[in-house]
Amino acid sequence: MSKLPKDFLWGGAIAAHQAEGGWDKDGKGPSVADVMVAGGVKGYREITDTVEADKYYPNHEAVDFYGHYKEDVKLFAEMGLKALRTSINWSRIFPMGDEAEPNEAGLQFYDDLFDELIKYNIEPVITLSHFEIPLHLAKEYGGFRNRKVVDFFVHFAETVFKRYKDKVKYWMTFNEINNMMDYESPVFLWTNVGVTIEEGENAQEVMYTAGHHALLASALAVKKSKEINPDFQIGGMVAYVPVYPLNSNPNNVMLAEEVMRMRYFFPDVMIRGYYPNYALKLFEREGLNIPILEGDEAILSEGTIDYLGFSYYMSTAVDVDSPVSDVKKVHGSVPHEVDNPYTTATDWGWTIDPVGLRYTLNRLYDRYQIPLFIVENGLGMVDTVESDGSIHDVPRMQYLGDHIEEIKKAVNEDGVDLIGYTPWGIIDIVSFTTGEMSKRYGMIYVDRDNDGNGSLQRSKKDSFYWYKKVIATNGEDL
Ligand code: BG6
Repeated sequence: MSKLPKDFLWGGAIAAHQAEGGWDKDGKGPSVADVMVAGGVKGYREITDTVEADKYYPNHEAVDFYGHYKEDVKLFAEMGLKALRTSINWSRIFPMGDEAEPNEAGLQFYDDLFDELIKYNIEPVITLSHFEIPLHLAKEYGGFRNRKVVDFFVHFAETVFKRYKDKVKYWMTFNEINNMMDYESPVFLWTNVGVTIEEGENAQEVMYTAGHHALLASALAVKKSKEINPDFQIGGMVAYVPVYPLNSNPNNVMLAEEVMRMRYFFPDVMIRGYYPNYALKLFEREGLNIPILEGDEAILSEGTIDYLGFSYYMSTAVDVDSPVSDVKKVHGSVPHEVDNPYTTATDWGWTIDPVGLRYTLNRLYDRYQIPLFIVENGLGMVDTVESDGSIHDVPRMQYLGDHIEEIKKAVNEDGVDLIGYTPWGIIDIVSFTTGEMSKRYGMIYVDRDNDGNGSLQRSKKDSFYWYKKVIATNGEDL
C-alpha cells in the first residue's frame, strides 16, 4: 500500500482552556470555562454564576501550559510533531470581550508560543473559539444569542489574524460548532456560544438563533482573513459521531439520516454557503423565528471555509423502537440512541469504532469535496504510573494504531483528501466534559490529580516513543 503524502501533518491537539491555566494572569479575564466546576462521568459540570471561593475550578490552573510551554514544545519536537493544534484563549486577548483595544500581554504570549513552535518546524493550527468566550459576553450580552457578539468575535479574529499573519496558516473558527445541537444539556450551549436557556424559552429557537449568529461570525471572519493574508486556510470544525441505524429496518435507516443532521447542519452552511432545505422546513414546521436578516445570505455565501476539521472519537446507533430518554449523557446524547452490539466502549462509555473513522472520512469527503483534517481523536483512559515511573499505555497505542490503519485506507484506497491528523490531548490536560484529570489522552503524562494536587512534572508514556516511530515512518510502522 502506498504511503501517506509526504507533507501529511502528523501532530497533536490541545485547547487553551484545558491546558494553559494562568486563568487570571497577565490581564486575562474569566471565560465561560472558568466558572465550570469539576464533574464526573455521571454528573454534568456545574456552571456557577461567578467564581466562588469554596469551589474547585480545574481549568484555572489546568496543567500550566502557560508556564511550561517551552518545555512542552521541546517534548513535542522530540516526538517529531509537524503540527500542534491549540486555541487562542479569547479572554486573554480581550478580557471582557467588548474592548476596543486588545491586551498586549495576551498577544505576546501567543507570539512567544508560535515562535517556539516555528523554531522546531511545528506548524501551529489555531482555533479561534474553543469554549473560551469571555464570561462578560455571556453574562452581559447573553452570548451569541445577541447579534452584537458577532462584531466582538470578528474584531477578535481580525486582531489575531493581523498579529499572526506570518506565523499561522491553518485556522479554525469554532470548535465543535455543532455541539449546541444538544441544546437540552446546558453545558454545550454554554461552552459553544455562551448561552443559558431561561425558564419558558423555546430552547430550539434560541439555539438556532445563536447558531445563526455563530455562522455569521465564522463567515465574516473567513472573509476578513483573506483580506489580511490570502494564503490563510480557514476551516470549520465539527464533532462527528456517525449515527448508524441499528439494523436494516428502513425506518431506522431514515431515522439515522435525520439524526445525522445534528452533525451536518453547521458544515452544510459553512461549506455550501446557504441553509439546507431540511433546516428551513424545520423552522417552518416548528414555527421557529430565526433572525435571518437581509444581507445575511450574502455574508454566508461569501465566507465559506477552505477545509473541514473534525473530531472523531466514537459512533453510535439508533432504533425507532427505543424511546427518547430524558437521561442525558455527559458527553452528549442523540434521540432514540441504543447500544451497538458490534462496538465496545471505554470506561467513560465512549464507543470504540476505528472503521467508523474511515466511514466518516468517506461520508464527509463525498458530501463536501473539500480537504478534511482530523483535528481530534484519542482514547481517554486511566494511566498507571509504575514504581520506576514508566507508563505502559497499551490500550492507547492500540486505539490510535487501529484508527491510523483506517485513515490509511481512506486516503490510499478511497482517495480522501486529508491534510493531517492531530490526536487529542497529546499531553494530559483537563477533560472538557467531566473536568477530571484522570481521563487522560496524552502521550506525555502530567503529574496532577482530580483535586488539583501534583507536581505538574511531565514524563513520557510508552505511547510517546510509539508515536515518534509512527511519525518517523509516515504511518507505516504501527
Ligand atoms: C471534544 C472537545 O469534545 O472532545 C475537547 O473539542 C475535548 O475539548 C475532547 O476535550 C474530549 O472530551 P473529554 O470530555 O474526554 O475531554
